Amino acid sequence: MLKSHFCGELRKEHIGQQITLAGWVHRRRDHGGLVFLDMRDSQGLVQVVVHPEEPEAHTVAGDVRNEFVLLVRGEVVARQPGTENERLPTGEIEVRAGELEVLNASRTPPFPVNEETEVEELLRLRYRYLDLRRERMQRNFWLRHRVIAFIRRFLGERGFIEIETPILTNSTPEGARDYLVPSRLQPGSFYALPQSPQQYKQLLMVAGFERYFQIARCFRDEDLRADRQPEFTQLDLEMSFASEEDILSLFEELFTSLARAVRPDLKLVTPFPRLTFEESMRRFGTDKPDLRYGMELFDLSELAASSEFGVFSNAVGSGGSVEGICVPGGAEFSRKEIDKLTTFVQGYGAKGLVSIALLGEGDIGSLTVEDVRSPVAKYLSPELLRGAAQLAGAKRGDLLLLVAGGGGMRKLEPGSVQRVKPSLDGLRREVAARLKLADPETLHYAYITEFPLVEWNDENDRWEASHHLFTAPMEEDLHLFESDPARIRSRAYDLVCNGYELSSGSVRIYQREQQERVFRLLGIGEEDVRARFGHMLEAFEYGAPPHAGFAPGIDRIVAQLAGEDDIREVFAFPKTKNASDPMTGAPSPVTEEQLQTLHISVVEEPEAK
Ligand code: AMO
Repeated sequence: MLKSHFCGELRKEHIGQQITLAGWVHRRRDHGGLVFLDMRDSQGLVQVVVHPEEPEAHTVAGDVRNEFVLLVRGEVVARQPGTENERLPTGEIEVRAGELEVLNASRTPPFPVNEETEVEELLRLRYRYLDLRRERMQRNFWLRHRVIAFIRRFLGERGFIEIETPILTNSTPEGARDYLVPSRLQPGSFYALPQSPQQYKQLLMVAGFERYFQIARCFRDEDLRADRQPEFTQLDLEMSFASEEDILSLFEELFTSLARAVRPDLKLVTPFPRLTFEESMRRFGTDKPDLRYGMELFDLSELAASSEFGVFSNAVGSGGSVEGICVPGGAEFSRKEIDKLTTFVQGYGAKGLVSIALLGEGDIGSLTVEDVRSPVAKYLSPELLRGAAQLAGAKRGDLLLLVAGGGGMRKLEPGSVQRVKPSLDGLRREVAARLKLADPETLHYAYITEFPLVEWNDENDRWEASHHLFTAPMEEDLHLFESDPARIRSRAYDLVCNGYELSSGSVRIYQREQQERVFRLLGIGEEDVRARFGHMLEAFEYGAPPHAGFAPGIDRIVAQLAGEDDIREVFAFPKTKNASDPMTGAPSPVTEEQLQTLHISVVEEPEAK
């Protein structure tokens, strides 16, 4: 090693020692005679002082610039009383330089590495190696490392074995498009990069490993967002002879102890609440509720059915609903604010938003039409108003926001529309953000269970698996297979936290007949089943044990623990929104020769007219 110590590890105990440091010049201050260099390495910062009495070192110190790579030989000394820096772990000492050597120079970086300034995304990614030098990114990646190390130790102690599964594989459908890799040896055939190791982990259960996990890279060609990258990492896990309870309690212990280990400063709500999908949709309009605040949905349909207000009665009459949220203290919202919220819910497909501000004094049961401010006040009866306020648990001073629309909780049945729930979910999040209702210092985990087995896909005109093809249906609902598939509940579960989905999993099908029954329901033809899933069906016939699993997204977990809104902040080399890497230029055209070897010809996109 060129160095004897890391910059960030020096303390009072080192005073008097002769040391050698190597790192980057973080900042340089020239105080006439004395030159102060903040030196940085992967462990932190230390102050180096260069005195004019060391003429050679002083000359070098005069020439160095930020981000030069420097070797420093010198002595650790106590800082002058009054010049200590409490905010720096090395702040009680400094290094008095005897010798300086420039190991490498640096051009002026395209953005400051030594401060947390806002830098344009493309520039950050183009020079990602410099971006990663910044303190925030270094912190995020040490956190990521600690999270993964913690998981490995935790599962190792509980008898789990880590096994790697192939990257060149066949398609495992998880609802996204596959990335394909052409086979040179078999012209016209393609591997698919795994969307997840789902099939392999189930086959490892058939193989008798019983407790498997993998820190697994997954690939999905889908539209990118703040919580999606085309390649990402899962903690993929599968367990034989396990029920829902075994998986949920294992992961509750893992996530609780992990958060306490790496972010002891954050508040944790335990035990994790468990909501069925039905309850979550009813109370929050979503299967990823943010439980850090209230404003639960209330259903006014029964009262609204007989309302003189046509928007309400027609919605209910046509199989829809009238639902709302109550904004505490929201009666003060201005006209303009309510208009903005109306435009907001229209973005979710709602026709409009009915606002009712509850004013006046006294018990809510004495509410009259004169006590409310609402553009539709004249259509609302006192009974409807009081009923709504009571259902919402509202007080005077609050604001009711109502949406009326088509029926259906999700795409559960053919032809159903889904405007009310998603609109109110969006509205609830939006209002909470405006009023800052969510405590950023709290992690509110929750499990959502009993997801529907299938959803109707209007576009393709067929049923699709809500989770994936291998999820077991609930025993109690098997009789609904032919009569009412929308109502079959599955043994799938999710982990959500603060409004984000962190993980999905399920108890699996492990018997051939049941798997075939699901394939039939999903309209996957026999030929197709044989070609794509024949190996799974066959394996089920050789003593497949009952099994269940889960797969938390590591990137989302780390981002949340790091307090980052975008998972890109915890990817070393992420892709942009159009799935490219501005630094390496990927994806890029390849040579004609490469294409020929792979027996591929590229069809040019027709020019847009
Ligand atoms: P699922 O498809 O729900 O389940 O994915 C599980 C978790 O993986 C993460 N995730 C992503 N993270 C970043 N970018 C993406 N594009 C992305 N897509 C998914 C999420 C998600 O909750 N094989 C099943 C799991 C199982 O049944 O065991 C599966 O992959 O955190």
